[in-house]
Amino acid sequence: MKKKAFVTGADRGLGYCLTEVLLVNDYRVFAGRYMKDWPWLDRLKAKYGDDLILVDLDISSSDSVEKAARLIKSETDSLDLLINNAAILGPDENNLAIFEPLDFDRLLRVYNVNTLGALRVTKALIDLVLNSQDKLIVNISSEAGSIERCWRTGEYGYCMSKAALNMQSAILHNSIRDKGGQVLVVQPGWMQTYMHGMRNDKADFPPEKSAADIYELIRRKDEFKGNKPVFVDHLGNLWPW
Ligand SMILES: NC(=O)c1ccc[n+]([C@@H]2O[C@H](COP(=O)([O-])OP(=O)(O)OC[C@H]3O[C@@H](n4cnc5c(N)ncnc54)[C@H](OP(=O)(O)O)[C@@H]3O)[C@@H](O)[C@H]2O)c1
Repeated sequence: MKKKAFVTGADRGLGYCLTEVLLVNDYRVFAGRYMKDWPWLDRLKAKYGDDLILVDLDISSSDSVEKAARLIKSETDSLDLLINNAAILGPDENNLAIFEPLDFDRLLRVYNVNTLGALRVTKALIDLVLNSQDKLIVNISSEAGSIERCWRTGEYGYCMSKAALNMQSAILHNSIRDKGGQVLVVQPGWMQTYMHGMRNDKADFPPEKSAADIYELIRRKDEFKGNKPVFVDHLGNLWPW
């Protein structure tokens, strides 16, 4: 029987590439669709048919997450892999934000998507994950979430949201490891994706590369299994929290 996965924020960028790499490797994939007019997932659906199930999903909305979970539960009672990938950059990039006007409502939106969004999705689907063979949750974090390696003087919203996602991952791992569950926190590298609205060609590499690397980490998941969750980059190098 095929393994089953759910990927959030699958319209484009890393989420799309992870969806594709999982399909190529014989998973049945539930793909969270946020951008109704972005056509890439439709093309993938035409190619993979029943192995790809498109699920409308806005992780900032509890109603949307619960509706998505109901749809997934109508199709399967287990999920080997949950990838919390969807995130937004937020308003305050590239500025010395403490000396600028801060828009707290927009910062709350970043926290609601990047941190609470992942928690909403995990909460709604944890029973399916723990009912599977692999029981793996991959939370896509960022170097921006590492407190030890912090170098920025701005970007409060994004960095704090990812640091909080890391803490969420640690708590979650503690609570599911005795049930065979595992959380892997991944910094995917600087990718040519759409976080700024347009593809960022200045970044280090395309998301296809990061997705292929992360798939390797998923295959090697047992190496990262332990008492504590592991924070690694896409190549499997340990990152400090
Ligand atoms: N790009 C990098 O260099 C980089 C570096 C470190 C970590 N990351 C992390 O990698 C992950 C993937 O990012 P990416 O670079 O692939 O970004 P991306 O190209 O912007 O893809 C993210 C996808 O999630 C969607 N999304 C936004 N808000 C959502 C919501 N409320 N519910 C569900 N989906 C939503 C986005 O839609 P919209 O386009 O409409 O917002 C987009 O389709 C994120 O967790 C990000 O923080 C990225």
